[in-house]
Amino acid sequence: MVTAGPTYEAIDPVRFIGNHSSGKMGFALADELAKLGADVTLIAGPTAQKSNAYVKRIDVVSAEEMLNACTSIFSETDITVMCAAVADYRPKIIASQKIKKQESALVLELEKTVDILATLGKNKRESQILVGFALETNDEENYAKGKLEKKNLDLVVLNSLNDQGAGFKADTNKITIFNKALERTLFELKSKTEVAKDICTAILKIIK
Ligand code: CTP
Repeated sequence: MVTAGPTYEAIDPVRFIGNHSSGKMGFALADELAKLGADVTLIAGPTAQKSNAYVKRIDVVSAEEMLNACTSIFSETDITVMCAAVADYRPKIIASQKIKKQESALVLELEKTVDILATLGKNKRESQILVGFALETNDEENYAKGKLEKKNLDLVVLNSLNDQGAGFKADTNKITIFNKALERTLFELKSKTEVAKDICTAILKIIK
């Protein structure tokens, strides 16, 4: 199972809270895993990316829909890679009508969404491999290692927004992978297809 893209959290019938994730990294991973012979289900937030015919695709919009899709198939999966940029907060109330402009400022109350990756980490069997991403802007390695341990991951893939050519819209990415033993592997800036290959190689190392 691979998740990709952003989630959109509705404010009213015309507006949402989203993020800049393009879905490119997750789609490249789904492709690469399928090429290696995996039976891939790709759970995709709203994105313009096109998936290949040999990947089973489930489209979702919100963090809650992504959570439901993930939890419904997680027990059947051997490898899960959570690449999606899931919203951490959503509007507490979704207005049923378009919110009209007012004289004063508008205050939206936000509530936390469920951390999908942490939920899967709690329910993971010994034989399942769970890979998470960490997108950071500062103190990157410590935050990434913290996520690996807190969310019970086998690998964490760190992206730093401080690296040129890495991040949301680019066709390239620069990653660092940490395994459970907190061993670090640094990679050069590469196309997202090449990065997907590196992540698959790291996963295969665990299986062997
Ligand atoms: N993630 C998730 N569900 C959420 C939030 C994040 O499954 N509600 C997953 C992402 O897919 C990613 C990992 O958790 O694999 C880390 O996401 P990131 O946004 O870097 O970190 P957070 O845990 O949300 O923490 P913070 O935003 O404070 O850095």
